[in-house]
Amino acid sequence: MIDGLPGDLRLVVAGDRALTPAVRELDLRDPAGGVLPPHPAGSHLTLTTPGGHRRSYSVTNPPSQRDRYVVAVQREAAGRGGSASLVDDLRTGDEVSVAAPRDGFGLVDAERYLFVAGGIGITPLRGMLHEVLARGHRDVTLLYLTRSPEETAYRDELLALAAGEDLAHVVVLHHSASAGRADLWPWLEHPDDGLQLYACASAGLLEEVRALTVHWRPSRVHLEDFTGVAPLRPGGRPFTAVWAPTGARVEVAATTTLLDALAGAGLDVPSSCGSGTCGTCRLALLDGDVEHRDLVLRPEERATAVMPCVSRAASAEVTVGPVGSTAPA
Ligand code: FES
Repeated sequence: MIDGLPGDLRLVVAGDRALTPAVRELDLRDPAGGVLPPHPAGSHLTLTTPGGHRRSYSVTNPPSQRDRYVVAVQREAAGRGGSASLVDDLRTGDEVSVAAPRDGFGLVDAERYLFVAGGIGITPLRGMLHEVLARGHRDVTLLYLTRSPEETAYRDELLALAAGEDLAHVVVLHHSASAGRADLWPWLEHPDDGLQLYACASAGLLEEVRALTVHWRPSRVHLEDFTGVAPLRPGGRPFTAVWAPTGARVEVAATTTLLDALAGAGLDVPSSCGSGTCGTCRLALLDGDVEHRDLVLRPEERATAVMPCVSRAASAEVTVGPVGSTAPA
């Protein structure tokens, strides 16, 4: 096992199985069989792969199962090796270093729920679906969009849920290989103040959901991109980063991430995912305002920390340093 970060849990893979040709499920437990820190519905954890990458995955089992974290990993052939390392190299009996889950989506109480999953985006929504059913909600719909039945993780389980006796919830499967592009408008046309909409999918599908729900109250719509955050986006502004330990001033161009600019100045900050999901590149934020774009920091952490792989200054200057550092005198 490759060591993770201080504070990580050391868990054992208690089971692994293929859900589809590209998706492998890992069942992670305490080696002594103990209770694990809670994993609220929609939360995600970060683990260290056998190849040494830090990667974040949604916890897909219901929060009531306190003895395990179940994750489903899609092998990304074009990725940077993190998912391939997990799918190819991690097997039952292996140990793995895991940071305790962090709340991702957050499940808001509502009269009705609509979940929209694109491909592997089913993973957080599966746990949330089980949770709302366990809370007694019955007006629940899952729209699950995949390419084909064979590429539909948890297909049989979800269909069995929908077929459960006297439940009003609905599972709609749509396979683009046979049925073409899904038309979401009939589901999103009429805003519903009693409904909470959760969507987890690729950036393209999320953009579509966002566009089709512009007339909804923002508090009813929750979107999560399972691919993480793009390091740069159009309209970024240049700024100056002050490195607290030395006072060095580093210019960050609009076309460069804070992480890359620091590396270019010889300030090597450990990093892994490059997409704001793993927490490895965390720095102390000592001065200035930041546009936080990561999926890691809790709201209460954002005044004092920053993920430089995706976040950048909202002010002309920010002062950062390794965790634990203090502002220059
Ligand atoms: S490198 Fe993973 S959050 Fe920055």
